[in-house]
Amino acid sequence: MSLLRFGISMPTELSTKFDLLIKKKKYSNRSEAIRDLIRRFLIEDEILNDSEVIGVVSILYNHHQRELSEKLTAVQHEYHHLVLSAMHIHLDHDNCVEVIIMQGQSQKVKNLAETLIATKGVKHGSLNLTSSGKNLQ
Ligand code: NI
Repeated sequence: MSLLRFGISMPTELSTKFDLLIKKKKYSNRSEAIRDLIRRFLIEDEILNDSEVIGVVSILYNHHQRELSEKLTAVQHEYHHLVLSAMHIHLDHDNCVEVIIMQGQSQKVKNLAETLIATKGVKHGSLNLTSSGKNLQ
């Protein structure tokens, strides 16, 4: 992998704000922060263009809710080609967290996550999308 160095011009105030923010976000230098920003930009584009992505969805629910566990499992079986792995944690007597890792075209992954999150009885759900890493240095 070859490295390219380039200079960036920007207003001093913007640069000062950026330096404060990357310090807060634990970056050791500007280059690493800018590389991550560029990757984030590229991943946003992959997601918008319906490229293959990885999705991690977490859902919190009460397993006493009638037929909810069965419904969530049935949805995952229906879309098994998108589901890489699922982990279920019994948090306490009532609450469960399920983390489901998916791989596929971004729109399909989003639809599956939205179906799981919107299932009646799910208290909270969130989806994090990332790149499959194949086209990202
Ligand atoms: Ni459980």
